[in-house]
Amino acid sequence: MLEDTSFAIRPIDQADEKEVWQPIGDVQKIEGKKQIFALTCDEAVVNIHFYRGDIVRVTIDPFDGKYDSVSPAVIATPEKVDVHVREGKDGWELQTKRLTVVIERSPFRLAIYDNEGTLLVRDEQPVCFQAKGRMRCTHALTPTDVVYGLGEKTGVLNKRGAVWTMWNTDVYAPHNLETDPLYQSHPYMMVLKNGHAHGIFFDHTYKTTFDLRHESFYTFTSDGGALDYYVFAGSHPKDVLAQYTHLVGRMPLPPKWALGYHQSRYSYETEQEVRELIDTFRAKHIPLDAVYLDIHYMDEYRVFTFDQKRFPHPQSLVQYAKEQGVHIVPIVDPGVKVDAEYDTYRDGVQKDYFCKYADGTLYKGDVWPGTSVFPDFLKKKVRKWWGEQHTFYTDIGIEGIWNDMNEPSVFNETKTMDEQVVHDGWKTHRQVHNVYGMMMTEATYHALKKQLKGKRPFVLTRAGFAGIHRYAAVWTGDNRSFWEHLELSIPMCLNLGLSAVAFCGADVGGFAHDANGELLVRWTQVGAFFPYFRNHCAIDFARQEPWAFGETYEQIVKRYIELRYEWLPHLYSLCFEAYQTGVPMMRPLMMEYPNDRETWNISDQFMVGNEVMVAPVMRPYTAHRIVYFPEGRWIDYWTKEVFEGSRRYIVEAPLDRLPIYVKEGAMIAHADVKLSTAMADEQMTLYVYTMKEGTSTYTLYDDDGTTFAYEKGEYIRMHIRATFVDHTVHFDVKTDGTYQPTWQLHVSFVGDVPKTIVVNGEQRVIDEATNTFVL
Ligand code: NOJ
Repeated sequence: MLEDTSFAIRPIDQADEKEVWQPIGDVQKIEGKKQIFALTCDEAVVNIHFYRGDIVRVTIDPFDGKYDSVSPAVIATPEKVDVHVREGKDGWELQTKRLTVVIERSPFRLAIYDNEGTLLVRDEQPVCFQAKGRMRCTHALTPTDVVYGLGEKTGVLNKRGAVWTMWNTDVYAPHNLETDPLYQSHPYMMVLKNGHAHGIFFDHTYKTTFDLRHESFYTFTSDGGALDYYVFAGSHPKDVLAQYTHLVGRMPLPPKWALGYHQSRYSYETEQEVRELIDTFRAKHIPLDAVYLDIHYMDEYRVFTFDQKRFPHPQSLVQYAKEQGVHIVPIVDPGVKVDAEYDTYRDGVQKDYFCKYADGTLYKGDVWPGTSVFPDFLKKKVRKWWGEQHTFYTDIGIEGIWNDMNEPSVFNETKTMDEQVVHDGWKTHRQVHNVYGMMMTEATYHALKKQLKGKRPFVLTRAGFAGIHRYAAVWTGDNRSFWEHLELSIPMCLNLGLSAVAFCGADVGGFAHDANGELLVRWTQVGAFFPYFRNHCAIDFARQEPWAFGETYEQIVKRYIELRYEWLPHLYSLCFEAYQTGVPMMRPLMMEYPNDRETWNISDQFMVGNEVMVAPVMRPYTAHRIVYFPEGRWIDYWTKEVFEGSRRYIVEAPLDRLPIYVKEGAMIAHADVKLSTAMADEQMTLYVYTMKEGTSTYTLYDDDGTTFAYEKGEYIRMHIRATFVDHTVHFDVKTDGTYQPTWQLHVSFVGDVPKTIVVNGEQRVIDEATNTFVL
């Protein structure tokens, strides 16, 4: 398994050191307006702005003091906060109920504490800038602090020990422990100090780096703009997520079909092939909710077209798929082929919607269609126009779009657009590169939302910036059919989740390279418990549909796809939690046990909600592994064996077994297996893992799965509390919401069946035939 070693000591960009770093000097004066404080320093204007009692923003502008952020990340507006100001001889203290900001006058330095006196942030060195417009700050860390987040990064869960760069990049070469950067930029960290967590978000769209190689500090450097960061008080990891997502928003509920099993390949090349694929799933009774159309569906890769020969009847294909409970999701890239006879190109040129250099020349780059131009998604009217083009898909019944290559990826040496290109009149590509893809995806999401008239859209994106989860699910790009890549996908998605991207996943089976039956089985087992579950495979490599490697493997793969559907009520309830609180479905053990240092860097196990733990096997020819069990008693999902926590065990895991453990006392809702989420549930079962004594709670959530009615309370939420005492269980059930479910909830006990069952004060009996009772 991956170890936390100093694997990735990358040299920091030496270009830094050629230019002089200049400190911003002393504070000359402070002016306060209720919750905003402006400090005039020798060489900069510093603003300290309390957004809430537990969120403070610091901006440091050494240039003209008129800094204005172009970042689309933050959507919250500041709330009213009472701030107490104290002046001392060396500086000032600004205090809210949750945070204290201590300002040292000479030289200017900040320290931020929470209300328990824990040091969250302290300038170890004065904030510096360079004439070129680069900024740098150095904050204290202790050797035992653990750093999480930073979005989509390789390596283990704890991000210390390396330099991480934010610059959206298409990397087809095999991702390894020092491959950095990748497709997304999330300049956000969660720091865990002795079990107390806080967060810091550097809201910078320029290229930035986090140098986390040092024992007692880290350095953040931005290639341009003023320094602009937010600190979140914590102190539980879940509080930090709630605070960060208060600022950058939370994921909307995806349509239920987006949580089903998805099948993709680069590419299913004809209508016939897609129909046969769906037919095979149905003939084999393997659940399926979506099939993807990769770039070959288009007419020579022109977006918003279908190849007339290979896809002559797209509408009837989409219709046919729907009748089988399957959604068709086509890929849409940003590059628009330069072709005077192609409507999208002509229209965009006429309207002046493509990216240009300052002198007015169109920027052209090579991508799949050959020489292409790129919409200037930083402009609102371009986003609207691009969005409108999607009626091409939605008019024929398509409800999901896959955005790819939106870093933007260009087939040249720098792999992207020229930094000298200007966007929206005056912003250089150097400044807005990291948000280009997010703006494309935002356009797609809003357009689909409008065109689907009340149905929830599904958008998948490769590139993104902080806040991308408001519009799309994220997959981790071009992995390979390597065991190591299966292993990497866990800390990568855990850290995406800790960076607010709750709905994420990796290509199951691996994208490039050839998979084999064993790898596909192990990967499908893990994928079934990732938030987003898609099998995708590259052109010219071994096919990896569930049946690709023969009967034995097919049966196991099928079983785990079915398991996904059985677990959907639980996953969907967790989605609602993510929508409400920002806490992701797939979580590191640390999130539930922040005081247990054993959990701090576990990269090969994860939680699905607060009481289910998955510990996959990710090595070939391996039928056992070591599992760490946090405090409490854990029950093996398959064998019902009980494990006492706070220690490790070697557990058996033959090929057909994914080790899953449920905490004693937990309740988990399951559905019956079905072929697609389009089929309504008639029955759900609440499995109650009984215990001798104690109390546990569970919230089961459901709604219509397709519309936005949940925003108006049209859902059902069952808040269930179980109290076990003396062979009796008391259920206290409260329901809210106005949705009438299609199902009845049965209760089934795992472990000792209680002698007496009481629900809201009334005694109940178990039906002897089914061994359940209806709640
Ligand atoms: C790159 C994407 O990462 C991959 O998933 C896709 O199949 C290819 N582009 C072709 O569109």
